[in-house]
Amino acid sequence: MQKENKVDILLGLQWGDEGKGKIVDVFTPDYDIIARFQGGPNAGHTLEFNGQKHVLHTIPSGIFHDNTLNIIGNGVIMDLKIMQQELDELYEKGANPKNNLYISKKCHLITPSHRLLDAVYEAAKGKDKIGSTLKGIGPTYTDKTARLGLRMGDVLMDNFQERYGKLKLRHLEIAKDFDFDISAHKIDNLSFDEYEAKWMEATKIATEYNLIDSEQFINDSLKAGKTILAEGAQGTLLDVDFGSYPFVTSSNTISAAVCTGLGVAPNKIGKTYGVFKAYCTRVGSGPFPTELFDDFGQRLRDNGHEYGSTTGRPRRCGWLDIPALRYSIMINGVTDLIITKADVMDDFDSFDVCTQYEYNGKKLDYMPYEILDEKLGPIVESKKGWNTDITKASSMDDLPAELIDYIKYIEETVECPISVVSVGPDRSQTIIR
Ligand code: GDP
Ligand code: IMO
Ligand code: MG
Repeated sequence: MQKENKVDILLGLQWGDEGKGKIVDVFTPDYDIIARFQGGPNAGHTLEFNGQKHVLHTIPSGIFHDNTLNIIGNGVIMDLKIMQQELDELYEKGANPKNNLYISKKCHLITPSHRLLDAVYEAAKGKDKIGSTLKGIGPTYTDKTARLGLRMGDVLMDNFQERYGKLKLRHLEIAKDFDFDISAHKIDNLSFDEYEAKWMEATKIATEYNLIDSEQFINDSLKAGKTILAEGAQGTLLDVDFGSYPFVTSSNTISAAVCTGLGVAPNKIGKTYGVFKAYCTRVGSGPFPTELFDDFGQRLRDNGHEYGSTTGRPRRCGWLDIPALRYSIMINGVTDLIITKADVMDDFDSFDVCTQYEYNGKKLDYMPYEILDEKLGPIVESKKGWNTDITKASSMDDLPAELIDYIKYIEETVECPISVVSVGPDRSQTIIR
């Protein structure tokens, strides 16, 4: 009998944008299947190879490898208009997603009126806004749990238009109660009607692509000895339960979500790779204990091109937060760490790392509920920089002693091995130990 495989996981340990897309692309030749299990087009996963940059939002980051199948799992939510645009761009770049992309019939649809509601709710929050990507994530997951949502498979049903119309009407009724000018509102520079027309046109995706019962397909594939990597979106600190609530996204972003987002049992999980930056970034509102407002913060932003892949917003930057990293490793059961973007600090003489928090005169080693309290501050330790260009390093032997020390220090304090070091955005700039 064929040996049954387990699903490996790769996910972000901070506030998103850790470099997940790049690493999934690097790992893809080792896997038969890459599957997204949560989130939606709020994600922006960047891949670089042959001098070209690609940003994916809904489609898994294995799509550029013809021999690997890419699955959008039931836990993902999809905006058909954005999806169509993403597919069109892939064809322009020479990929052929019709051959290697499958979509779960159970994945929920983000409709134009979900996007409208997202904007309405954010505007109503005023200065307390989440800083949502406004892709309709919150309202769509809300409708999913309220048992009102529409799913990919529904597009093929005779009553789809009727159900779509009912949901839209419901959303418009809700929006009416807010002080919000719906008629003037643009969705990605289009009026509601223009956006809706393109969205409807994109329902053809349901007939043109392979819609599957992905949980069955994935479990059958495991039985047949196939290797599967689950690709996370967002990051652990944006998780709806364990992130800095309410400044979070509306899905579980952690390893446990692979079970519900793909339909695999906990005993079918293999390795869990956790990706983190050598420092921290956050886009949108919410607590960020190690945030920098000085020249160091600006240098991290400039050197690291820290501007959102989905919204273009400048990312907030700060030092590496060890208690937060330890928390994320614990919640996800991370077996292997992947550090990215150390090269961004190549010209730093020194840098800091947060080792503990101080709260009400006490030192804390972990991330507390009180993360939202302004009185929680970081305790930092200074480290010597390496002042060396590491972007051409191809093995650990090429790395400067100060960076090796930083890597060892992290491994020891969080008690988890770092198995990959990324030294630049390109596929080739990756050291696998
Ligand atoms: P994701 O959402 O986790 O996939 O990350 P994003 O693509 O949103 O953001 C990561 C950014 O850093 C992208 O622009 C990547 O091309 C880039 N990147 C990834 N790894 C590295 C690295 O090791 N060094 C540098 N300088 N850039 C990197
Ligand atoms: P990737 O997969 C970084 C943030 C938003 C906002 C909050 C809620 O590229 O790492 P939402 O649109 O989900 O309602 O926004 O979460 N956010 C991300 N930040 N990377 C992401 O994805 C993100 N997806 C959502 O900025 O603060
Ligand atoms: Mg991103």
